[in-house]
Amino acid sequence: MRTLIRNIKTLLLGDDQAPMMVKGAAMQNLPTLNNAFVWVEKDKIVDWGPMSECPVATPDQTIDATGAFVLPTWCDSHTHLVFAATREGEFIDKIQGVSYEEIARKGGGILNSAQRLQNTPQEVLLEAAYKRLMEVKNYGTGAIEIKSGYGLSLAAELKMLRVIQQLKTMTKIPIKATFLGAHALPLAYKDNRAGYLQLIIDEMLPQIAEEGLADYIDVFCEKVAFSVAETEQLMEAGARYGLKPKIHTNQFNCMGGIQASVAHQAISVDHLEVINEEEIACLLASDTMATLLPSAPFFINDHYPQARKMIDAGMAVALASDYNPGSTPSGKIPFVLSLACIKMKMLPEEAIFAATLNGAYAMEEAHRLGSISKGKLANLIITKPMDSIAYMPYAFGSDWIDKVMISGEI
Ligand code: NIG
Ligand code: FE
Repeated sequence: MRTLIRNIKTLLLGDDQAPMMVKGAAMQNLPTLNNAFVWVEKDKIVDWGPMSECPVATPDQTIDATGAFVLPTWCDSHTHLVFAATREGEFIDKIQGVSYEEIARKGGGILNSAQRLQNTPQEVLLEAAYKRLMEVKNYGTGAIEIKSGYGLSLAAELKMLRVIQQLKTMTKIPIKATFLGAHALPLAYKDNRAGYLQLIIDEMLPQIAEEGLADYIDVFCEKVAFSVAETEQLMEAGARYGLKPKIHTNQFNCMGGIQASVAHQAISVDHLEVINEEEIACLLASDTMATLLPSAPFFINDHYPQARKMIDAGMAVALASDYNPGSTPSGKIPFVLSLACIKMKMLPEEAIFAATLNGAYAMEEAHRLGSISKGKLANLIITKPMDSIAYMPYAFGSDWIDKVMISGEI
């Protein structure tokens, strides 16, 4: 199938020499081209440029994008898309003043989700996760990372990861799987932390590696979850099976999780609602992506990451949804862009870079996604007619995406 998208009002991120990620001030310089075309063959972008250079060959399909913007799909590098049940009860508790951390300490939160998942059949989890995946695809997500972490037992963690593996075969959306066995200490181990770490290291990891079920290892490094020393132990165990770290850290406390993750060559550190100068300096000197998840503080405590400070210091940041039933019951990246601009003072151009190219970097997909470059996958968003880039984060309640192309198919 050969598709021509023509009369594009503005093409964003057209760049055949796109870097693997953009940092600091460069995040404002989003490549734009007015009055453009994109030529797609099979699943790839074959050509793009100004309409004056539009190929004369006849495509199988022509899409007229008059008035529209075309940009790469979102690379949502941090989600918990597989879960058994939503948690509206805790939503009401939070409205009535109980904090997210208190809920966790009382055995709710992640443990609540883990309990619900134990007896949920794999097919039921799969069907629900697939529906969520199709939902976020319509919001423009064209690549996604999905974590386990609501199993917390060998059988249930494997079940979650097998669901993710099945999802990979059911869609052309690139998916990365992350093993998050260390998401919370399960009740059965509440007096035996070392025993749970041993279970992860001696039983879960070998089996996961044998079945090839995970691309990355994650740990929730936080006072309510796992310490820095435990996180290090798990990153080292993961490394023995070739799993690179992507770490939940600095959601509530600065504990040294960033430094430890960077020392273990983490692909990304995620959340960063709190950060200090030393941690910013550490990230600046590293190749680790800072992945910000503003929907989580929007939902739980209004304490947003200091994106402005990070970017002004020269850091690269990515934006992701964190879609999960506890802190972020939404996978809508356009809303994440709005939060990034409204609550974290990112410019629209920075937010778009953060959710596309830098998101791709944070899931090691920047070589084939995240920009409109010849040879990259044709995963594209075509918007409804609009006047400016700023309309995207500005119109936070509007569905301004018209079409989503995945691997060359609308
Ligand atoms: O990224 N903070 C840790 N994990 C998830 C939330 C998990 C949950 O509450 O179910 C997060 O916010
Ligand atoms: Fe998360």
